Amino acid sequence: MGKHEGKVAVISGGARGQGRAHAIKLASEGADIVVFDICEQLPTVDVPMATLADLEETARLVRETGRRVIALRGDVRDSDSLAQVRDTALAEFGQIDIVVANAGIVSLGSAVSMSDAMWDEMIAVNLSGVFKTVRACLPPMIDSGRGGVAILTASTASFRAYDSHVHYTTAKHGVIGLMRSLAYELVSHNIRVNAVAPAAVATPLVQNEVMYNLFTGGREDATFDDVRAAFTGLNLMKEPWVQAEDVANAVSWLASDEARYITGVALPIDLGLLIK
Ligand SMILES: NC(=O)c1ccc[n+]([C@@H]2O[C@H](COP(=O)([O-])OP(=O)(O)OC[C@H]3O[C@@H](n4cnc5c(N)ncnc54)[C@H](O)[C@@H]3O)[C@@H](O)[C@H]2O)c1
Repeated sequence: MGKHEGKVAVISGGARGQGRAHAIKLASEGADIVVFDICEQLPTVDVPMATLADLEETARLVRETGRRVIALRGDVRDSDSLAQVRDTALAEFGQIDIVVANAGIVSLGSAVSMSDAMWDEMIAVNLSGVFKTVRACLPPMIDSGRGGVAILTASTASFRAYDSHVHYTTAKHGVIGLMRSLAYELVSHNIRVNAVAPAAVATPLVQNEVMYNLFTGGREDATFDDVRAAFTGLNLMKEPWVQAEDVANAVSWLASDEARYITGVALPIDLGLLIK
């Protein structure tokens, strides 16, 4: 018996990276999966975002585990889109037990030069989008009487500042307040709400030229290997980044009955960064 046998999990931003790892991990522990992603480039984001082909690959990998999967395009900024994801999940699988609000973007800029559009898009996806994703999934959890679990993707940027990340850091700090408030409010419905707070994760969000440039002080030809030392320097443990699977293991555990009395917690998966 897997940890999540008989459960249905909805995962935002699941076309690639951590969302894909969460989908595969939860499925490998028995859950049926509803995964969605915007699969398009947002205007203020320079880092290449996921594609429809990425989303289809996630679905293929989940199917390989033997579990059922629905993969949809959906936008965490848009409540109608989220209602469609929820209603499709309910029509196909009849229930929602776990929601992982993982979708996020990164863009870089100083406070003084940041456009309204860059600020607004960040808050809309990385903060409001987390709220809207969880909210959309609450009615079936409450109505079922069986409760459920929500896991919000925070960051070490939920607890400290980073260069050129004022909007990201603000959104991720907000995710902690959101997580605590939801945990407080939803306990009476037997819904637990927690967050994961990773340090750098080896996903396309950091494995891209924009980040290589930032971490090498502007070197145009920098590669992934050139930033290894700079990333390692942030951490207490001598590794540059964690893998998406490390975060997925934490998500799976928090979602399971092994964590049945844990709510309102932000779990760092951070190579000791936050105590350094
Ligand atoms: N990679 C890191 O170093 C790191 C560290 C800490 C926290 N995080 C957080 O982890 C989460 C996952 O990031 P990742 O590292 O897997 O990066 P990623 O870019 O591989 O995955 C993020 C996914 O979210 C999707 N997405 C973006 N906007 C969306 C929207 N409006 N609606 C639906 N989907 C949308 C993207 O298309 C992408 O597939 C994010 O919230 C990110 O902020 C990442």
